[in-house]
Amino acid sequence: MRAAGPDATRLKVGDWVYCDSTIRARDDPFAPDSILLGWTARTFAALPLHRAYHHGSFAEQVLVPTENVTPIGEIVAAEAGRWAALGRLLVPYGGLLAGDLRAGETIVVSGATGGFGAAGVAVALAMGAGKVVATGRNLAALAELARLHGSRVIAAPMSGDENEDRRRISERAGGPVDMVLDFLPREARADQVRAAATTVRGGGRVVLMGGVRGETGRLGLDYNWIMHNNITLRGQWMYGREAPPRLVQMVRSGLIDLSVFRLTEFPLSRAQEAVDHAAVHAAPLNLTVLRPDRLGR
Ligand SMILES: NC(=O)c1ccc[n+]([C@@H]2O[C@H](COP(=O)([O-])OP(=O)(O)OC[C@H]3O[C@@H](n4cnc5c(N)ncnc54)[C@H](OP(=O)(O)O)[C@@H]3O)[C@@H](O)[C@H]2O)c1
Repeated sequence: MRAAGPDATRLKVGDWVYCDSTIRARDDPFAPDSILLGWTARTFAALPLHRAYHHGSFAEQVLVPTENVTPIGEIVAAEAGRWAALGRLLVPYGGLLAGDLRAGETIVVSGATGGFGAAGVAVALAMGAGKVVATGRNLAALAELARLHGSRVIAAPMSGDENEDRRRISERAGGPVDMVLDFLPREARADQVRAAATTVRGGGRVVLMGGVRGETGRLGLDYNWIMHNNITLRGQWMYGREAPPRLVQMVRSGLIDLSVFRLTEFPLSRAQEAVDHAAVHAAPLNLTVLRPDRLGR
């Protein structure tokens, strides 16, 4: 950290910090307009935030509100890129907090072979999930998750047939499913979402975090099933302000191992190469990191 604003009381110049890209307006505590720094303004009303905070992280220095800064403690500079994985882990952590995942519970991560889904598996385990049923069509990615995390992760390969997939998830769970975390992308169909969501037990929670939208986003979930079974169905965008420091604690305590991510780092001068690399090498545990502190080629 190079400088802190007058509203910071503990940050010190030279601290290693994580800068959260989720910037929220401060003039509405209930439904603040928000942006992802240098990336998306979800509503037209959020544009002033982009005007104020337009120095994203593809630069030597980045400007963020004080509340977006989390100290990560002492690290060696060479390890800094690895901490970029927090950005991948924080998103599912937001959903797991929203769904109030408890130790020992069984959770289904729908879309576990994707970037955020795979991170969700790791965070759910770190939070104490008893069983994580990981769904996906990519058998190699499912096998890697199971190999990496051991017996608490159970792979549930998806066929694309709603009834068959629902049956398989329930069978792999081997008992009540307490929570479902959905990370299916915009290309997915409503019946893929339903197949996982409807495996949840009575009183269970379904948290939707994926990209399904438009006509496909009309999920066709049964009103009576939701009502009679006391199902909680909620969406979650990103995460609350307490998530970054809590996640740092989980990493620091060894509950989350950042070394599971395969890192490829590029200096700032090769930013376009980094973007091209990321596009070609997309995989659940791959991370392409830009190092603005390395200016050379
Ligand atoms: N709520 C939030 O705050 C938030 C934040 C960031 C991202 N997101 C959303 O999260 C979603 C997932 O992001 P991601 O980066 O993890 O995506 P990703 O890496 O592409 O993963 C998506 C996974 O979905 C699975 N999938 C199932 N049906 C699919 C279909 N018909 N077409 C393509 N893939 C399908 C794929 O696994 P298989 O091929 O193995 O089935 C794939 O691995 C995105 O839509 C993104 O917009 C939400």
